Amino acid sequence: MHNKPEVIILPDAAAVAQAAAERIIQLAQARVAATGSVSLALSGGSTPQALYERLGQEPLRSQMPWQHVYLIWADERYLPPDDPASNYRLVRETLLAHAPIPPEQIYPVPTAYADPLEAAALYQRQVQSLLEVGQGQLDLVLLGMGGDGHTASLFPHYPELHTPDDQLVVAVANAPKPPPQRISLTTTAINRAAHVLFLVTGAEKATMLQAVLEGPAEPEQLPAQLVRPMHGTLTWIIDTAAGQALNASV
Ligand code: 6PG
Repeated sequence: MHNKPEVIILPDAAAVAQAAAERIIQLAQARVAATGSVSLALSGGSTPQALYERLGQEPLRSQMPWQHVYLIWADERYLPPDDPASNYRLVRETLLAHAPIPPEQIYPVPTAYADPLEAAALYQRQVQSLLEVGQGQLDLVLLGMGGDGHTASLFPHYPELHTPDDQLVVAVANAPKPPPQRISLTTTAINRAAHVLFLVTGAEKATMLQAVLEGPAEPEQLPAQLVRPMHGTLTWIIDTAAGQALNASV
């Protein structure tokens, strides 16, 4: 049974970042109180940068139970970790430089293997071991949405949209959004999460967001529609510019 998505519309990108940070803190505090740990899967791209910066600074930084956070990436560009386009580098510079997560609890995607398939297989094992810590599910997956309706590195009409039920990580070649080689969580991994949080901002996303949220089911064309947590919650935090094409009923 899928929960109906919660859609929160806020005035601007700064308000979206603040609300997302507060939501993550609330979730993390609750999970750590209940289970002693919280697992987060973070995305790259430009949207979440302001969120990571806020979480890495006071007054929010000290509200997160960093010592109990386990961190993976929802997707990664297959680049060296110090490449300017690396999602790991984005999180390292905006968040990890300030948040005291124990290094052994941080799982960057391995991008040094000549064969990305080998990297994906290793990351699959790492994600599986993390799921064993967290009662078989990721606590939170943070996602963005591309202008073509992709999310993580799951692109329209790409074969990686459909993977075996036990596959949690997939290597993506020839991605339309550079760089072409990527590693991504699969819809299986994402939809097993306890909470999925999309952040979408900007007028350029409005038409696609309306299609994803209110249009007919076309998941091959709109991979973001494949995100339907089996038992978890699905929340979209968007700004008014990205939400301008939505039906007033939202
Ligand atoms: C990536 C991201 C990707 C991103 C969307 C939105 O590695 O590129 O994980 O899935 O979330 O493309 O990107 P923006 O936030 O830059 O619009």
